[in-house]
Amino acid sequence: MQPFVFNTVPQLICESGSALALAERCRRLGIDKPLLVTDPGLMAIGLVQPVLAALDAGGMPAILFDQVREDPPEATVEAAAAAGRETGVDGVIAVGGGSSMDVAKVVAVLLGGSQPLSALYGVDQVEGARLPMILVPTTAGTGSEVTPVAVITTGETTKAGVSSALLLPDVAVLDPDLTLGLPPGVTAMTGVDAMVHAIEAYTSKVKKNPISDNLAREALRLLGANIRTAVHSGSDREARAGMLLGACLAGQAFANAPVAAVHALAYPLGGHYHIPHGLTNSLVLPSVLAFNMPDAAPLYAELAEILVPGVSGGVEARAAALVVAIRALIDDVNLPATLQAAGVPEQDLPMLAEDAMLQQRLLVNNPREVVLADALDIYRAAYGATA
Ligand SMILES: NC(=O)c1ccc[n+]([C@@H]2O[C@H](COP(=O)([O-])OP(=O)(O)OC[C@H]3O[C@@H](n4cnc5c(N)ncnc54)[C@H](O)[C@@H]3O)[C@@H](O)[C@H]2O)c1
Ligand SMILES: [Fe+2]
Repeated sequence: MQPFVFNTVPQLICESGSALALAERCRRLGIDKPLLVTDPGLMAIGLVQPVLAALDAGGMPAILFDQVREDPPEATVEAAAAAGRETGVDGVIAVGGGSSMDVAKVVAVLLGGSQPLSALYGVDQVEGARLPMILVPTTAGTGSEVTPVAVITTGETTKAGVSSALLLPDVAVLDPDLTLGLPPGVTAMTGVDAMVHAIEAYTSKVKKNPISDNLAREALRLLGANIRTAVHSGSDREARAGMLLGACLAGQAFANAPVAAVHALAYPLGGHYHIPHGLTNSLVLPSVLAFNMPDAAPLYAELAEILVPGVSGGVEARAAALVVAIRALIDDVNLPATLQAAGVPEQDLPMLAEDAMLQQRLLVNNPREVVLADALDIYRAAYGATA
């Protein structure tokens, strides 16, 4: 067996209503005064107020930072850290999607240690301690609650990652009730993002391992079985619970067997056109799967058996069925199927291909080598019929 390392969070709580019991969780972590990080959209729909009220009632009033922007820029991280520093908080809670959780992770490090933000980027650059941290996802997508990564927007079109086991929280709280009102479009995009995490972890070239494989398989089963219901009948608690757990398991998988060409080709689309992360993945997914086929068909065939129960035929036929099933799923959850439909200008494709090649950190995990001409071919295929 190949040697491998697997890291994840020390505690995962998966229970309806568990976001209303954070005071006790804080106390057990030695927190007296938590900073609660969230975004203005979640405040506007009233999702966070009951969590704040429950913290109050439990004798653990939180300092609120509710200004997280999507794809959070450095200024958001600095503002949240300043809010925590000025008020002397001793723990950090995030209630939100990947954006809020990623901000909270970096803030916990900034407040617990002495490094500036600029020193944290890259792999294993975080030194020393961080404040105790609890992450509560409200999207079923990024899996950030169980990944050692935070993604921060550092320029007009660029993102940078902080990657360190210190970014794993002390506790991840999965409360499906928080996702009942997630709009259909966000449910679809973030759900496909999670499915991509599972698929890319399962075919990850360098760090694929037996634990990630099992997590990825169960994640894909849960996500595939529940995404349509979650999109079209959002208040279905069982479907929401399946999605939230599926996204979390996929997060545990790709935290240890990293994502690859789908994410590498998706990032430039987010950077240049501010297309949401999940949709960028969905737009290039079928074309990357088709490109990877010569090297990944046996693994795709295994995944097809999960997504298309009862699928028959040889390896090639079953692997092809995975791509057909993914295309059908993208259509069923009403996501645009082509770059053209998403408004990406055709003349930009060469520039996007150049940008994607910068993501070597991800491309090395791809089951098939991707060179510049391949990236352009994949974007052309993803562009749509006329490209
Ligand atoms: N840390 C990681 O491992 C990791 C992995 C992948 C992506 N990311 C990052 O995560 C971010 C994307 O996160 P995301 O996709 O979870 O979305 P998000 O946090 O950016 O939120 C997207 C929108 O959905 C809304 N929303 C969230 N939960 C809701 C709910 N329950 N009901 C109604 N509206 C809700 C938010 O208000 C926001 O407007 C990006 O910055 C991406 O780069 C991080
Ligand atoms: Fe992702």
